[in-house]
Amino acid sequence: MKILFATNNQGKLNEVRWILHDTGWQLISLSDINYNVDIPETGQSYYDNAAIKARAAFSIYKSWTMAEDSGLEIDALGGKPGVLSARFFPPNMTYFERNRRILEMIIDLPAEKRTACFRCVVCLITPTGDEKCFEGVCRGRIAHTIRGGYGFGYDPIFIPDGYGLTFAEMGQEIKNRISHRAQAIRQMVQFLKECLRA
Ligand code: IMP
Repeated sequence: MKILFATNNQGKLNEVRWILHDTGWQLISLSDINYNVDIPETGQSYYDNAAIKARAAFSIYKSWTMAEDSGLEIDALGGKPGVLSARFFPPNMTYFERNRRILEMIIDLPAEKRTACFRCVVCLITPTGDEKCFEGVCRGRIAHTIRGGYGFGYDPIFIPDGYGLTFAEMGQEIKNRISHRAQAIRQMVQFLKECLRA
């Protein structure tokens, strides 16, 4: 089976391919269908944005399509950057600089007050146009320094609960077992398997 993933984010694409690798399903991206338009994320929630991206891609592809919206929520910042994670800082700023800015914003906070989570909402559209959403959350805390070279985005400053390493230090295999994205995608896989059995 082929599923279109409505994203231009190579980090997300690699992760979802990895998470789906034992299903035998093929995950294609927007560039595989020559869809080069940047879909504006104008929604107020992860659900809205995931649905906006999935619907835009489904209107062209008209078969199994998924999109996801995700973000980092820092408790001491009232849940920011949250749904604005990709747009919280100017677009030309590197992620090293963005991570440095986040660390500066909570510089005086002790470890127990640096709690945070990553959240991911996946929206799947079936060939008949039905929509189904799945949410995954990974709790953890913000590190005191930028650590590790794997992954993307805010990975170098996020330490998931139960681990002493940031997402960017632990590498793909562990991250893709425990991450917010892995949890949402695994629910989608369960749903798809049930659909395909029916
Ligand atoms: P969007 O879903 O395209 O709005 O982008 C979400 C943004 O949240 C990404 O560009 C990253 O900055 C951040 N983000 C979401 N998931 C992750 C992750 O797994 N690791 C690091 N950063 C992430």
